[in-house]
Amino acid sequence: MAKSRSFLLKHNSGIGLNAVLPYLEALHFVRSCASEFHSDDVVMDVGCGPEMYCCKAVLEVFPQVKSLIAVDSEQRLQNAERTDIIMPFIGNIQERDSLEYYEGKISKVFSMNVVHEIKDKELAFQNVYRLLKCGGEAAFSFCVESKGNKFIKAMLEVPKYKKLFQDSFDENFYPNECRKQYYKEMLERVGFHDVRANEERKTLPYSTDEQCKEVLSKTLKKYFKVPREKEDEFIDEAFQIYVKIDSIADGKPYYHSLILTLFGVKPVESMDLKAMETSDA
Ligand SMILES: C[S@@+](CC[C@H](N)C(=O)[O-])C[C@H]1O[C@@H](n2cnc3c(N)ncnc32)[C@H](O)[C@@H]1O
Repeated sequence: MAKSRSFLLKHNSGIGLNAVLPYLEALHFVRSCASEFHSDDVVMDVGCGPEMYCCKAVLEVFPQVKSLIAVDSEQRLQNAERTDIIMPFIGNIQERDSLEYYEGKISKVFSMNVVHEIKDKELAFQNVYRLLKCGGEAAFSFCVESKGNKFIKAMLEVPKYKKLFQDSFDENFYPNECRKQYYKEMLERVGFHDVRANEERKTLPYSTDEQCKEVLSKTLKKYFKVPREKEDEFIDEAFQIYVKIDSIADGKPYYHSLILTLFGVKPVESMDLKAMETSDA
């Protein structure tokens, strides 16, 4: 316990202002989905990211956790610090083989802000199910609608910006029909029991227009190739489009998203998915 606390203090001291919100979001998520932890629990954070906010939140809320496997598909995780409790592990939740070693060994899986990035979500949920011990729990929190997506769509409606577009963009990245009920049924198909789903609309104000422009600039760089001398003008115009998409209360721009949180339990008496596939054949 002392070790987890010292880890937390060490890493919390490095949480700057920009990291406070994602860390608080992780705390909210972990608190909302894990009512009980036992001292022998082995926990996994799938798609932990380099900052490991969710891992830090788990240790804050459940200091008795013995082992926390921090999984991410990004190679940069190689440089992440290994502690007595946190073990960084490079693995892809869409590739069963990459995490096979942990199958049937995990008590709780958390995954925050990851599932919307995953193409084959059902396959990812199946692989999480395989990782869990019987009776183990999984919790996922991810975006099912975002203002960011609407914003790129609006930018592409302006011909002069469309010409600068250099990436592929899926207009239907967040289909309207893929919401709470759709994902609840998906988890049940995989074999999870006691599935619960909550949607929460998040509205986060940017503290200033400049902060909003900074975020927009980072996002837009991924999609648009803008000549250097035109960058400031481009961002100013993009900002005008952004604030038109939704109303801005208090004269401040906001970031809007719809976050789905899903919980599921692997039944105590559960068959391995592979055995189920074989017996179905
Ligand atoms: C938006 S970040 C979220 C990071 C962290 N969970 C948080 O909330 O701060 C998404 C992370 O998921 C990871 N990721 C995306 N697809 C993945 C996959 N198939 N398997 C494992 N990690 C994945 C990315 O590399 C990235 O670090």
